Amino acid sequence: EATTDNSDEAEATTSEKLVIGFSQVGAESEWRTANTKSMQDAITDAGHELKFSDGQQKQENQIKAIRSFIAQKVDAIVFSPVVETGFETVLQEAKDAGIPVFLSDRSVDIEDDSLWVTFLGSDFVEEGRKAGNWLVEELGDQEDVKIVELQGTVGSAPAIDRKEGFEEVLSEHSNFEIIKSQTGDFTRAKGKEVMEAFLRSDGDNIDVLYAHNDDMAIGAIQAIEEYGLKPAEDIVIIGVDAVKGAFEAMAAGKMNVTVECNPLFGPQMVGLIEDYLAGEEIPKRVAVEESMYTMDQAAELLPTRQY
Ligand code: AHR
Repeated sequence: EATTDNSDEAEATTSEKLVIGFSQVGAESEWRTANTKSMQDAITDAGHELKFSDGQQKQENQIKAIRSFIAQKVDAIVFSPVVETGFETVLQEAKDAGIPVFLSDRSVDIEDDSLWVTFLGSDFVEEGRKAGNWLVEELGDQEDVKIVELQGTVGSAPAIDRKEGFEEVLSEHSNFEIIKSQTGDFTRAKGKEVMEAFLRSDGDNIDVLYAHNDDMAIGAIQAIEEYGLKPAEDIVIIGVDAVKGAFEAMAAGKMNVTVECNPLFGPQMVGLIEDYLAGEEIPKRVAVEESMYTMDQAAELLPTRQY
């Protein structure tokens, strides 16, 4: 297993107060809000100082934020990249300044993996596979199943990987066809808008909606109702994240299933940062454990959901 060893350079100890810069993607979804809170609470509860930057889903904002963290000589940078590519230069600058970068939630598509210490996040390809496998189980016997797909942010790891995993499963089953696929940028408003366009062009032909997150699914549910169809009955609705909003929609019989993507890994991240700065070996990849939930479990589980 690949690791990053910091034993030669370690100066800090776990008891030392650290200054941690966190460059977050934005505030585009329920998931993101929960993730931001988890990270903020974990950093401050551990007695460290947090410098937070909301990238508003723009790469240039994130590059500026990381440069400002470097200028302020923070001890560590937590970075959740909005897209996979285009961050080499700024990550090299952080490395040259001797500031370790911890990738959070989303990874980058960069060859030189010495530019970050570790990547802590979910397996998005596996999430796409779970969505595909559930659909095959549900509608495997049905002929000519027509699917519309709401993709996440163009160029982001979860959009690329959730599409890949889903298509990998469906490629083995010729009765499924993705007839439309477009980005809804992981937001409710965009999910609704794009679903309206799908309904205008393909109306009663749509059997399934696969949304790369619950917020877009929830926006689409509104569009489907306004169009005069019944979500979860006329159109099967699949989301990802397992946020409270999805449990509410499932409990109301308007959504069929959500694949869990757990955002509550702030404490795990702080542990990794402290261990690394104390000179311990850190795995290059740390996974977050998750499950999936269907409509019939929703009402019972809703009160127990933390995000
Ligand atoms: O990167 C994780 C994804 O980003 C979540 O699934 C989505 O809701 C968020 O915007």
